[in-house]
Amino acid sequence: MTSHQISDRKREHLAIAGSPEVQMTMSNGLEAIRFEPVALPELDLDQIDTSVTFLGKTLTLPLMIASMSGGTAESQKLNEQLAVAAQASGIALALGSMRIALENPTQRAAFELRSFAPGIPILANMGGAQLREPGGLKGALKCIEIADADALIVHLNPLQEALQPDGDTRWTGIKPAIAQLVRESHVPVIIKEVGHGIGPTTARALLEIGVSYIDVAGAGGTSWAAIETQRLGSPEAMKLGTPFHNFGITLAEALVAFDADPQLRDTLFVIASGGIRSGLDVAKALRMGAHMVSAAVPFLHAARLGDAALTDLIAQWHRQLKISCFVTGSPDIQALKVAPLLKAPR
Ligand SMILES: Cc1cc2nc3c(=O)[nH]c(=O)nc-3n(C[C@H](O)[C@H](O)[C@H](O)COP(=O)(O)O)c2cc1C
Repeated sequence: MTSHQISDRKREHLAIAGSPEVQMTMSNGLEAIRFEPVALPELDLDQIDTSVTFLGKTLTLPLMIASMSGGTAESQKLNEQLAVAAQASGIALALGSMRIALENPTQRAAFELRSFAPGIPILANMGGAQLREPGGLKGALKCIEIADADALIVHLNPLQEALQPDGDTRWTGIKPAIAQLVRESHVPVIIKEVGHGIGPTTARALLEIGVSYIDVAGAGGTSWAAIETQRLGSPEAMKLGTPFHNFGITLAEALVAFDADPQLRDTLFVIASGGIRSGLDVAKALRMGAHMVSAAVPFLHAARLGDAALTDLIAQWHRQLKISCFVTGSPDIQALKVAPLLKAPR
C-alpha cells in the first residue's frame, strides 16, 4: 500500500468515525456495574487524589487519549491539539498507526509531538500485520524513536482487515514477531485491539510470549466493522460486514474474565477501552481491575469543537471520577479499586 493510499484511508476513517452509525448498538456492559453508594464518606471532595503513575510518569488521573491520528494534514493538526491538551491536563497520549511515517519519512512530523507534550507518556503505534513483514521489527523500533515514545502499542485488527477487499489477511507469524519485539524493545510493548476486544484466550497467549500490557479495546464503543462497511459503501460490503457490527467481547466481559483468572489478574497491566464515555465509566473500569482507562471517539468529537472543548471534556471526566470516589467513600484510586459493589456483573 502506498503512503497516498494510507493517507486516504486515514482521512476516510477520521471522517466516518465521528458518526453515530458506527457506534455499536450493544453496550460495553459497564451499566451492570453498580457501586454501593456511601452516604457517609467522611471525605473532603477537594482532597480526593486521583493521581497515578504510568510508564514512570505521574498523571492527574489514569486516563489516556486512545490511538487515532496521523498521516494526513488533519491528523497532524489533531495530534498537536491532542498532545497540548493531554500535557495541560496531565493524561497520557497514544498516537495512531505510524505505518505512514515508515513508508514516507515526510509524514513523520505528525508523530513528533514531544515538544508539545514533554511531561506525559506518549505511546507509539503500529499494526501487528506490519510487524510481521520483512523489516517489521526495525520499523517498530523506529516508531519508538520517531515519537520519543514511552511505550509501543501494537494493534491487532483481524476483523477490520478481513472486511476490506485489500485487507491484510495473512495473519501467520505475528505471534513470534511480537515475542521478538518484546525481547528487543527498550520500552514496554502494549497489545491492543481496535474495538472488538482482547479476550482471555488471546490474553493468555500474549502472556506466554512475554507481553504484560494489554489494552482491551473491547466491544461496546466504536465499531471498526461498521466503519469499514460504511467506508466501502457497496451493497456487497454491507451484506458481508453488517452481521459483524456488534462482534466482540465487551469491555466488561473482558475485565471480568481477566479478573477471574489468577494468572492474568496478577500479571497483566490492563488498559480498559471500548465505549468509555464518562468519568463514572473510568471509575467502573478501574473497579473492575483496569490500571488505566482510555477512549477515542469522545476526544475526537471534542477536538473538532476546539481546544477549550477538549480540555473541558477531560476536566469534566476528572471531576466525575473524583465524584465517583467521593460517593463511594474512596480517598484515592487504590481505595476506589476495592469500593463495595451492589451486584457482581454476570
Ligand atoms: C478515527 C479513529 C482512528 C483510529 N485509529 C487507530 C489506529 O491508528 N491504531 C489503533 O490502534 N487504534 C485506532 N483506533 C481505535 C481506537 O484507539 C479505540 O481502540 C477504539 O476506537 C475504541 O475506543 P472508543 O470506543 O472510545 O472509540 C482509531 C479510532 C478512531 C475513532
